[in-house]
Amino acid sequence: MDLQLDGKRAVVTGSSAGIGEAIARRLAAEGAAVTVHGRRANTVGAVVEAIRSLGGRASGVVADLADPQDCARFISGALTDGGVDILVNNAGAFANRGWDDVTPQDWLDLYAINVAAAVRCIQGFLPRMRSAGWGRQPVPYHARLCGHQGGGAQPDRVAGQAP
Ligand SMILES: NC(=O)c1ccc[n+]([C@@H]2O[C@H](COP(=O)([O-])OP(=O)(O)OC[C@H]3O[C@@H](n4cnc5c(N)ncnc54)[C@H](OP(=O)(O)O)[C@@H]3O)[C@@H](O)[C@H]2O)c1
Repeated sequence: MDLQLDGKRAVVTGSSAGIGEAIARRLAAEGAAVTVHGRRANTVGAVVEAIRSLGGRASGVVADLADPQDCARFISGALTDGGVDILVNNAGAFANRGWDDVTPQDWLDLYAINVAAAVRCIQGFLPRMRSAGWGRQPVPYHARLCGHQGGGAQPDRVAGQAP
């Protein structure tokens, strides 16, 4: 596959593990310079090293995107560091809890990372993409659009993922 991403800069939130890591690795293999992100320096650093060892370009940033101030620092750092052409809003969380045990604070905590952080990143990076005349913000199906039908399980997560 050649997605013609040479010279493009990609930020993948929550790429220190799991699906985000796989996306970051794929984008790097396609030629993009990737910002690997997570909350733990050791896991972020391990993914950065893994990408570099395969000849890819990667750097790492540690930030808790559920914290509005840390999220603002994350965005301004990426913009100062040359800007962003591709944003993949992947960071997120879920917990196996149901209506009997989920608390109002659980709803707020999950909303902060699964919804508000994504909105902040979109609004933070979009103006530069517009002025540059090129930008991509793919909406990962796995991260955002699988909550079209609620049920008894994980109500706080499903509510934040409804399209
Ligand atoms: N796996 C599934 O079956 C599945 C199904 C539906 C949807 N999803 C969604 O797909 C996305 C990725 O899933 P995954 O299974 O790959 O998850 P994962 O392995 O748990 O990885 C989640 C990533 O998000 C980061 N993250 C979590 N909370 C964060 C916060 N407050 N601030 C910054 N980074 C944070 C984690 O960083 P740390 O390492 O620092 O925690 C990690 O890099 C998530 O949005 C998840 O909700 C997954």
